[in-house]
This record gives sequence, structure tokens and C-alpha cells, in this order.
Amino acid sequence: MAKEYGHYDDAAREYVITDPCTPWPWINYLGTEDFFGLISNTAGGYSFCKDARFRRITRYRYNGVPMDAGGRYFYIKDGDTVWNPGWKPCKTPLDFYECRHGMNYTSIEGRKDGITAKVLFFVPLKTWAEVQKLTLTNTTDVVKKLKLFSFQEWCLWNASTDMENFQRNFSTGEVEIDGSVIYHKTEYKERRNHYAYYSVNVPVQGFDTDRESFLGLYNGFDAPQVVLEGKPRGSVAHGWSPIASHYLEIELKPGESRDLIFILGYVENAQDDKWESKGVINKRMARETMSRLDTPVKVDAEFRKLNEYWDNLLSIFNVESGDERMDRTVNIWNQYQCMITFCFSRSASFFESGIGRGMGFRDSNQDLIGFVHQIPERARERIIDIASTQFADGGCYHQYQPLTKRGNDGIGGGFNDDPMWLIFGVCGYLRETGDFSILDEPVPFDNVPGSEKSLFEHLTISFDHVINNLGPHGLPLIGRADWNDCLNLNCFSNDPDESFQTTENKTEGSKAESLMIAGLFVFSGRDYVELCRQLGKNAEADRAQRHIDDMIAAVEKYGWDGNWFLRAYDYYGRKVGSHENEEGQIFIESNGWCAMAGIGLKEGLCDKALDSVKERLDSEHGIVLNNPAFTRYYIEYGEISSYPAGYKENAGIFCHNNPWVMIGETVRGNGKAAMEYWRKICPAYIEDQTLHKVEPYVYSQMLAGKDAFRPGEGKNSWLTGTAAWNWYTNTQFILGIKPTYNGLEIDPCISPDMKEYKITRKFRGATYQIEIKNPNGSMRGIKSLIVEGKEITGNLIPLFAEGSKVHVTAILQ
Ligand code: BGC
Repeated sequence: MAKEYGHYDDAAREYVITDPCTPWPWINYLGTEDFFGLISNTAGGYSFCKDARFRRITRYRYNGVPMDAGGRYFYIKDGDTVWNPGWKPCKTPLDFYECRHGMNYTSIEGRKDGITAKVLFFVPLKTWAEVQKLTLTNTTDVVKKLKLFSFQEWCLWNASTDMENFQRNFSTGEVEIDGSVIYHKTEYKERRNHYAYYSVNVPVQGFDTDRESFLGLYNGFDAPQVVLEGKPRGSVAHGWSPIASHYLEIELKPGESRDLIFILGYVENAQDDKWESKGVINKRMARETMSRLDTPVKVDAEFRKLNEYWDNLLSIFNVESGDERMDRTVNIWNQYQCMITFCFSRSASFFESGIGRGMGFRDSNQDLIGFVHQIPERARERIIDIASTQFADGGCYHQYQPLTKRGNDGIGGGFNDDPMWLIFGVCGYLRETGDFSILDEPVPFDNVPGSEKSLFEHLTISFDHVINNLGPHGLPLIGRADWNDCLNLNCFSNDPDESFQTTENKTEGSKAESLMIAGLFVFSGRDYVELCRQLGKNAEADRAQRHIDDMIAAVEKYGWDGNWFLRAYDYYGRKVGSHENEEGQIFIESNGWCAMAGIGLKEGLCDKALDSVKERLDSEHGIVLNNPAFTRYYIEYGEISSYPAGYKENAGIFCHNNPWVMIGETVRGNGKAAMEYWRKICPAYIEDQTLHKVEPYVYSQMLAGKDAFRPGEGKNSWLTGTAAWNWYTNTQFILGIKPTYNGLEIDPCISPDMKEYKITRKFRGATYQIEIKNPNGSMRGIKSLIVEGKEITGNLIPLFAEGSKVHVTAILQ
């Protein structure tokens, strides 16, 4: 039996970590609106408001030694022993340790020598602050006198310059101390109108705000001089590295428990309301927030509100499948991860620094489908933000910055799959909500006022961007790259100082075409056609359909390799992903998308392609991206061949695109295969936590592939399209509950051993209680559908009035 570091507590919707030495920091996220925190199982991590780069509140050291240094630390000095409730940073052995990661909160408990310290971390709804409620309990029968030191290290706002511009930064740091509140006001005097603060709800017996005074210049977080001496210095930071540390002397009688409430907050003031008096910041808003949260009763009430918020979000889709691993994935953790990816795109995790990347155009559109059932209003807003970064010709900025909502010039555009994802995302939104009014919203191009066209026109322009950019075989030109950012067919980079992503040497005259975009175009192009018909725009639907038919013909003629779909044509018009190639003969993306789109289904092409995927790409831990892996650098393929074999886009198991094959399997009715593929990459089914390494409760972007040194090892957990794709695949294609414009379609495609399951689905204001029965162990096909006691023809449950409770029984063949 492999070593376990924790277990699920499904009733509490928590993952319980029982050993602080996890194989990698196992993190959680706090906040879902503006104020955010990343928190590890040992209380490491950092906080920011709105933008992880430009409004970074606390400092973090990426890839540090030891790993995960810096965070929200409490030091308890009990006699000569100094310890932390989360074990780190002192690493004093604890008598008991437990970290519970829940829905947007984390609680960490440590016990040492009869003292229990439990810290609950969360961001209350609609609040620009993180609460840290520390409960200290004396379980001994003697009076205990403890010294408590809190600790946070301020980041000087711009997380990027904070890491590099020391000639300035070491002179700018400023703080203000007011009773038990430490304010961080670096650069407030000039162009910033925001500050941060760290408070505790009782009087303190001392403080420190200068890192060197607190730690000692040559000490680490594990041995702060002030803590070892048991005496605060009352240091006031002037430049160098400002921190915030409270000092409290605490006496606990036998059995006594005490709650302390620490608040890490952030405030933005109006330009003309910045100061209380010359040089003294206006603290009104900070005081308001602190007074809303200054007693355990108030904090507990806020915590209940957060729990209720999640009760509500997770009540929209619920399955009882008889398999607890499926239930906890679908009902809890996958939905939670979808919300987190929606909030952060690919910007801030323990694999992304929050500095480099903003919100991805394609990423955010895909994230939408995992999230739209939860808070459609936010999905609506996101769609408008994303579409506003599109160019007039349909091309798109690849990323935008969440603070400014402007396209990121550093990355630019030219990724030719991007436009189609807008159709994918918007149609997902419309099917869920029926809110067609969004299509009339005026949306600018590249955020230029006056350039607005309706969102519907953006969709048309997106569709047309593909057909305006076809290559010699009538297939979509790839541009910089398609979904696979690392297949850079026009890059030809020989300079290690260049970015594969932004260097585009040879687009002019390029013949590089993508079969992945072709499949996406057929799949999501049909969504566009269906939408046009829904809107009565039949001429436009017919026009679009003709282009889709042409694309299908082009794929069948030029995109078929005999046993699978080609991946692409390169710059010179040579095949990529063909048996004729030496390496990279077969790829997942084109086979997944063309099978999803059912191209050549009748002619047997999908069957052959999926069988080839099984034979060549499947492995013990999931489906690898390509095979054989590239073992040398191919200048004409770019970054994909830069990775060692088995990692990332070079034959890694991209959990993001395994679902494309799963959906493909459902298209041919093979629910058994779809579910088997899913279980291989779904963390709830992964037994070996040491090998898997990253969090066992969320999907990771990648597991090392069969050619890697350690196949099955996970990386890049949390922020990945894997969350939305597995959600979409599981709920709509496997469990088979599909939102459509006119109702819920029931079309399961399951393993024959799934004999029955129940689903509760809230949809457009009504609640559907659906029972699926599979008495004959089939994989697909509804024999009868009984809605409110009446059998209906077909498999579409019509829309019911808001507030209705609808009972449905579906019986498979
Ligand atoms: C990016 C995606 C991309 C994928 C495959 C991820 O890191 O966020 O946009 O599709 O890698 O290259």
C-alpha cells in the first residue's frame, strides 16, 4: 500500500492532510472575487487583490530553497520551544498536525505540549481582506504563558519589479503603525492610492515591521532572532524589506481557549481622499472592514455565509452514482477547480508565478464551460471582456491583463485557433442561460471606443477568420500555433534567447495548416450554425454549413493518413503526424477533435483513428500527446521538440486533451472506453500519492508520459483547462445531461457496469431530478424517457417554469 498523506472528508467537502511533508506543497485558494490568496498545507503562499502581478500584497519566493518559504506564519514560543501550527517554517515536530482544505477556506491545526493552535483562513464574501482566526487552547492542567508572533512579509506591489529592482526598492519601503494595525504604504505618497494592512483584534505588547530586525540578516524564517529571544524590537521599516509582525503575550488557564482575529486587508482610496493629515494615510475603509470582523461571532457569521455560498453553487449539479470517487469528483472538487480556473485562468499557482501570464483568450473561453452553470452573470461579463480584446479581422490577443482588461502586447496574437473558442464559449453560455440578449451587446475591437459591433457579429467574424485563413489544402493555417502552443511551425528559432511563443519568423508564404483547428472548426462551427438557425438567420446558417462541409471534405481528402488523422502540414507543406515521419507520427489533438466532430464517422475513419490512439498513445497513466516522442530538436516544429521525451507537449499526458478522446469515444458509443480513460487521469482514482506528487484533489495539466523518467508523475496542478474539459465531458457526454436551447437533453454514454444513477440538475430556474436506469448493461441509447409520469418521445426534457420540480426517469436500451 502506497504512503498516504491525507484523505477526503466528503461530508465536510474537505481534503484532510495529515502529514505536513507532502511530496509537493498541496495548496488551496482563498477568495473568488477580487481579493485572493494561495495557501499551502503549511500556510505558505501569498495574497493579492485583482491582479497577481500589479497588486501583490505579500511576497513569495518561487522555486525557493527550501520549497514554499514565506507565508502566513504564527510562531508560538512556549518556554524554550518555538513551533508553528502548520509545522513550517520552524519544523518543530508536532504532536498532531492536520490541514483541511475546503471550499475557499483552509484550516490548519497543530498541537504541541498540550497547546492546540488552529488557524482558519478565508476571505469573506465581498470583502477585500483575508481573515485568519487563530484559536489557542490549553489542554493541560497548568497555566500556560505563551509568546505569540505573527508574521507577513510585504511585497512592494509590482511582483515583477519586487523581484528585480533592488536599487530602488531597498529605499522605498514605508509603514505606519497604529495600535494593533500595521499599515504598508510603500509608494502611497506618489502614484498609488492603495495600501495594505495587517491587524489583530486585541491590543498588542509589541511589533516589528523591518525584516532584518525581526529575522536577523543571516537567519531564515525558521529561526527569527526576535522569536528566539522572545522579545520584539518595535522596529519601524525605512526602506529595505518591510514586514508585519504582532507580538502578544498570552496566558491560558487549564482548559481555556482564546480566539484571536487577524486581518490582512487592502484598501483603495479616491485620489482626493488619500490622507488623514499630511503623511498619514486615510484609514477609514480599513477601519470599517476591521470593525465588521472584530469578534469571533462576526467572523463565524461570515464563514457561514461563505459555506452557504458554496452549498448553493454545488447544488446545481449533483450525481449519486454509487461510486464515491466519481461523486466527490463531480459534485465537489471538479466544480471547485472549475471556479478557481475561471478566476485565475493560468496566472497564479505554484507553477505559474502570477507575473508572466494574464488571462488566456482560448483558456478563458474553455474555462467558461466548466463554470457557467454556477454564476452565469460572471461568465457573461467574462465573455464581453474577452471579446473586447478581439481584432476587427477576427484575430485575437492571446492574453489580456485582468486589471486593465487590455490585450497583452508582449504576447500579441496570431494563434489561429483562438477565434473559434469564442464561439465555443458563447454557445456554452447561451445553452445554459438562454440569455440571447448578450448577442446584441456592443463589443469593441481591441478595446477601442467607437469600434463596437454586436457580440453576434464577433462570432461571425471569428468563424470567418478561419475561412479567410486557409492553406493550400483548404485546411486552416495554423499561425503561431493552435491549441498546442508548442507546435510552432512558423517559428524556426535558433536563438535560445527568443521566446517560441512570440517569435514568428516565417508566416509569410507559410503552408503550415492545422488539423486540430479543422476539427474544432467543424465541431464549433456546427454550434454557430445551430445558433443561427435558433435566431432565424437561415441564410447565414446555410453559408456557414457550406464552409463546414468543405472543411470536412478537405480533412477527408488531405487530412487522413490511412489509420489516423494527420496533425498538420508544416511550413513547407510536409505532413506532420504521419506514419511517414520519423518521430511524432501520431498526435492526440487532431484525432480527438476530428473524432469529436465525427468526421468520417460513417466511413469508419473515427473508429480507426480511435483504435490507433488506443494502440499508440494510451498508457497506464493516460493518453500521451504524441508518439514516438521527439528525441532531438526539430527547428521546423519548435518548442514541442525542445522538451525531453515524455514531458509537457512532447508526449506528456496532457490531462486537458484526454477528454477529447473520451468525447470521441462517446461519439462512437463506447462508454466503457470513455470512462476507463477518465479514471486514469482523475486524481480521485490515483492510488500512489508519492508518484503523483501534486494535490490528489485536483487535476493537473500534465502527468509524465510513458517515455518519461517517472511516468505518472504530476505537474502543473490547479490552473488547467483539464478542469473544464473533464467537467464538460463527464456531465454532458458520459453522464449525458446536456443543456440545449430548448431543454435538457438526456444522452448518457456509460460503462455497461453502471446500472443506475441519479442526478439533480438545476437548469433555468427549475430543478430536475433525473434517474437513469441501465437494466441491460448497455452503453448508450435511451429506450424510454418519462417526465413527470408521462412518457415522451425523443430524449429532450422540455423547459419547465421557474421553481418547478421535475421528476424524470430515463431507461437505457
Ligand atoms: C496553455 C494552453 C495551451 C496548452 C497546450 C497551456 O499551458 O495555457 O493555452 O493550449 O498549454 O499547449
